[in-house]
Amino acid sequence: MSSTFGTIFRISTWGESHGPALGVVVDGCPSGMELSEADIQADLDRRRPGQSALTTPRNEADRVEILSGVFEGKTTVTPISLLIRNADQRSNDYSEMESLYRPGHADLAYDLKYGFRDHRGGGRSSARETAGRVAAGAIARKLLERACGARILAWVSQVGSERAGALDPLAVTREAIEANAVRCPDAGAAARMAAAVEAARKARDSVGGVVDFAIANPPAGIGEPVFDRVEAELAKAMLSIPASKGFEIGEGFRAAEMRGSEHNDPILHDASGFSFASNHAGGTYGGIAVGSPIVGRVAFKPTATIGLEQKTVSRSGEPAVLAARGRHDPCVALRAPAVVEAMAALVLADLWLRDRARKGVFGLE
Ligand SMILES: Cc1cc2nc3c(=O)[nH]c(=O)nc-3n(C[C@H](O)[C@H](O)[C@H](O)COP(=O)(O)O)c2cc1C
Repeated sequence: MSSTFGTIFRISTWGESHGPALGVVVDGCPSGMELSEADIQADLDRRRPGQSALTTPRNEADRVEILSGVFEGKTTVTPISLLIRNADQRSNDYSEMESLYRPGHADLAYDLKYGFRDHRGGGRSSARETAGRVAAGAIARKLLERACGARILAWVSQVGSERAGALDPLAVTREAIEANAVRCPDAGAAARMAAAVEAARKARDSVGGVVDFAIANPPAGIGEPVFDRVEAELAKAMLSIPASKGFEIGEGFRAAEMRGSEHNDPILHDASGFSFASNHAGGTYGGIAVGSPIVGRVAFKPTATIGLEQKTVSRSGEPAVLAARGRHDPCVALRAPAVVEAMAALVLADLWLRDRARKGVFGLE
């Protein structure tokens, strides 16, 4: 399996949904950076289950413990090991998934590939795994804030067919995102989205959604053409999130409808240097970030596990009907912004360290 991500700032997540704990090992964080559990907990709190009536009722505190790599409140460059205990498992809810494959989930694919799996709560394929990513992402975020003042935000822009109105991605604030349980900074749209999630839940069904992200003040010059372009690294990172089905940077698929005269970002120059009059590209040209905001979005499918009866087959190939009993998110997009932010931070921190290594600069100063 592939559980490791990154080149210099490298993370390895570990653990299963219903094991005793899960976590992450972060390698390559420069020494001397102040780091406490509180720095990490805030991001974990935004991802954790059981946080509102619109998410899964599985109630996990997701308290992080730093086991290594930090001495007297500062990173030492040795591996940072983070542990999060699982507390609220109800493995019996998943007993029938030992023998019945959930349509839309990873059960069949894991069995076909590996032949043996921990079926409880989806085991390793459960999005519990993303808690490790979010914990590691909080460290990457801190590194980037210190390096260049980068600010990474993600929010829900669509649930089903309910869309947020036109938003200036740079005007979106953390407060506006966290002001409602949907995490949509457009309050009117958030209310309609909440109703759509509630309707799906009542129908024992699920609904998809879109998460937008904006990275202000990204480190200029990062990105390693030709294969490790900024957008290529972000696309891989975002599409590694469970249930993600689409990625766009800048105008994304809308660019196909535009003329060059419309899409090209006019180049300006003044005493403070080069800049752009618009940002249709989403902050990258030739795979290199130029310092303008990196903006994009990630599409999430409707949750696979639903209470409605669905046709499936058993491990032995017998036809069966499955109506899931476990606790599930009716819309995974609502808990995904913290994961999208974490993956963006991990990509940027790694590309920043790679760019500095190329220039022969090591460490934080
Ligand atoms: C934050 C988050 C929460 C999720 N919660 C659930 C859930 O409660 N039930 C479920 O079936 N899938 C959930 N998923 C999605 C599954 O993990 C995912 O569909 C599964 O691993 C199969 O992968 P795939 O959809 O990418 O093919 C969640 C995903 C994320 C990002």
